[in-house]
Amino acid sequence: MKVLVFGSGGREHALAWALAKSARVTEVVCAPGNGGMAQVARLEPVVLSDVDSMVNLALREQPGMVVVGPELPLALGVVDALRERGVRVFGPTQAAAMLETSKSFAKRFLQRHQIPTANYAVCTNAHEVEDALGRFHAPMVVKADGLAAGKGVVICQTRRAAQEAAQGLFSGELLGLDGERQVVIEEFLSGDEVSFLCLCDGKTALPLAAAQDHKRIGEGDVGPNTGGMGVYSTDEIVDAEMREWLLRHVAQPTLRGMAAEGTPFTGVLYIGLMMTPRGPQVLEFNARFGDPETQAILARLDSDLAEALEAAIDGRLDEVELRWKPGASACVIASSSGYPGSYQTGKPIRGLDAAERVDGVAVFHSGTARRAGALVTFGGRVLGVTAAADSLREALARVYEAMSRIDFEGIYFRRDIGHRALRERP
Ligand code: AMP
Ligand code: GLY
Repeated sequence: MKVLVFGSGGREHALAWALAKSARVTEVVCAPGNGGMAQVARLEPVVLSDVDSMVNLALREQPGMVVVGPELPLALGVVDALRERGVRVFGPTQAAAMLETSKSFAKRFLQRHQIPTANYAVCTNAHEVEDALGRFHAPMVVKADGLAAGKGVVICQTRRAAQEAAQGLFSGELLGLDGERQVVIEEFLSGDEVSFLCLCDGKTALPLAAAQDHKRIGEGDVGPNTGGMGVYSTDEIVDAEMREWLLRHVAQPTLRGMAAEGTPFTGVLYIGLMMTPRGPQVLEFNARFGDPETQAILARLDSDLAEALEAAIDGRLDEVELRWKPGASACVIASSSGYPGSYQTGKPIRGLDAAERVDGVAVFHSGTARRAGALVTFGGRVLGVTAAADSLREALARVYEAMSRIDFEGIYFRRDIGHRALRERP
């Protein structure tokens, strides 16, 4: 079977890498792909904000399965458009993707279905913000309602700061995008964050290995939020008892609620959780694989990914059991200095071959491109250096050894990925 993967990030590189290993897959095509994916796939041009270009490519290629990586084409309805043309596609419809596309939709859904989440208010103007802030204690969290690549969330220590953040979102100044019509104000939660991803077929949620992301740019979890600077996966992040709890109290009620409301959810339900002293609370839903969670999760997968995604498309996930390598995996992002603010691109990347010679290491490309045969930086997040091993300490040692062999002008990476787990289990 030929598989077509839409996207151009590290997540899609990892998906293409895992799909290429499947006995069922004869060819992987990535569109548009990036500088590194050509190692595992044929690349075809496509514009991820143009559903027609994606549908046309799928009709030309006639793949046995399409996998959609990023949120933007899901929000634009690419799954609906492909299904209408009879293409077998893994991912949620536009209506189901609302769980990610609109934070106000997701919060109201969570409340409607009594799924644990922080108290919140949806506001459409400064007056409503003022009103809502009266009901929250500092710190409070101000969120853009729409998609913002992980950068639309501001944690505010004072009411004044929260008002300013909301104003910045309404005016569009804060994100450099069109102004938001709505913002969500939320109570601040503290605890460990967990990314709990499930493959879904509308009825059954099949959990993937859980992971912990590090969203802040700075070591010690300081500075602005990013799309994710590094992640690790072990079985300890969510033990068997917690997995059952999360399925029963979060994943299954979500699938039942979406089905009952006429928008059954198929694809990856990414449940972002805060493990608070009063129990797990949903921070957010994403309607797709995480980046960089996917790089670390697939490094541990010991089952056939294509088979599992096909079962999700066919509504047979209740028959699938996934096997995971014991131990741990980690993925650390090398980014361009300046990210998540402005940064330069086009910097030559050196040392990848040497990095990949470290035992158990795979380097997934995020923002890279080939220019005149040379590999150069082409984004804020550039590479995801990934390794699996018997223990987290060993996985991280491999990642950082490989990272020390890579160089480009302005390279930045966090040296403390997994720090909480290592502190708890030295
Ligand atoms: P979201 O896009 O809603 O997941 O928010 C991005 C990140 O902001 C999360 O991964 C958390 O690190 C942080 N965050 C979001 N909501 C809250 C909250 N209510 N309390 C504390 N941190 C939050
Ligand atoms: N790593 C966070 C995300 O994919 O949204």
